[in-house]
Amino acid sequence: MSSAPHGKPLLKTVLGERQDRPPVWIMRQAGRYLPEYRETRAKAATFLDLCYNPELATEVTLQPLRRFDLDAAILFSDILVIPDALGQKVGFETGEGPRLDPLGVEGISALRPEGVVGALAPVLETVSRVKAALAPEKTLIGFCGSPWTVATYMIGGRGTTDQAPARLFALRHPQAFAALMDVLVQASIAYLVAQFRAGADVVQLFESWALNLDETAFRAQVIEPNARIVAGVRAQVPDAPIIGFPRGAAGMIAAYAEATGVNALGLDYSMPTAFADKALPKTLGVQGNLDPLRLVAGGEQMETRAREIIAGFAGRPHIFNLGHGIVPETPIEHVARLIDIVKGR
Ligand code: CP3
Repeated sequence: MSSAPHGKPLLKTVLGERQDRPPVWIMRQAGRYLPEYRETRAKAATFLDLCYNPELATEVTLQPLRRFDLDAAILFSDILVIPDALGQKVGFETGEGPRLDPLGVEGISALRPEGVVGALAPVLETVSRVKAALAPEKTLIGFCGSPWTVATYMIGGRGTTDQAPARLFALRHPQAFAALMDVLVQASIAYLVAQFRAGADVVQLFESWALNLDETAFRAQVIEPNARIVAGVRAQVPDAPIIGFPRGAAGMIAAYAEATGVNALGLDYSMPTAFADKALPKTLGVQGNLDPLRLVAGGEQMETRAREIIAGFAGRPHIFNLGHGIVPETPIEHVARLIDIVKGR
């Protein structure tokens, strides 16, 4: 970490220091709900070209901070740059989401994690450029997808409603699956360490598909690989601040927090504030957890729920966020109003 935490309220909160008002950022804060994003996006032929263009990616990373009083910038990239860097073909169909050539047992033995950091040099260049442009009180968040979530796309070839292709693959081919997880753990450690060295203050592990797993599978596919990443990153970047976001972890959140050693826990919107507050150690930071559709609808219901969340986590370090990514239909005025509420205006 290249800067002291003193002036960064969001970083301080990740490190366990409660603030009088929660700092705020928005999951997927750079994206299609912003006209300036759509304009920059049109300059790149494909979505991945945008991710690998440091000039354009820096621009879209900074856009939401020009418009709103946010406490953090999140690197503009995607969780699927790792499969791309591993040599699996990744494409994004407009309006349909990611498409990959599904990976089979044979494909796994050919994957090599060593080249990933080199292949992602343009993303690391974006981290450095954003860091240089960011005001000192703003936190720069880097990220990667957690191995299980990334594997669901690599095996299924696309986003799936219940992750059945990857769940079945893990049960039928445990050795090949373990080899895939090893590659993803190694690649993620190297990539996150490189993000810290390029200037990230904090990183988030996106485990967006932590739901739909039984307890045994949750321990094997979610807790264990995330714990290995946290330990592996901290072996090279001592005390690296890390946020874990195991979406849908439900009754497993306390086990996840304890076994992985993350500094703060992102909560999805189905998590009751009182349940989380009781289940987690008082010093552990939480992040979340407004339903993104409340932000789409706006008005009274959004304000009431936002205040409930703030009150629900008033006794511990809390970073205000949505419980999942902002959606393209979100009116910009609603985002501005939400941030005013969090800031006490
Ligand atoms: O502002 C930010 O948060 C930073 C950028 C970011 C993107 N994706 C940009 C993006 C981040 C942190 C992600 C993470 C990501 N990507 C996740 C984890 C978070 C989550 O939402 O659960 C996942 C599962 C993905 C995979 C992915 N990428 C999907 C499923 C899609 C299609 C959905 C959609 O909204 O179209 C993407 C594409 C994507 N990633 C877009 C953006 C801005 C939209 C692409 C476009 O501009 O056309």
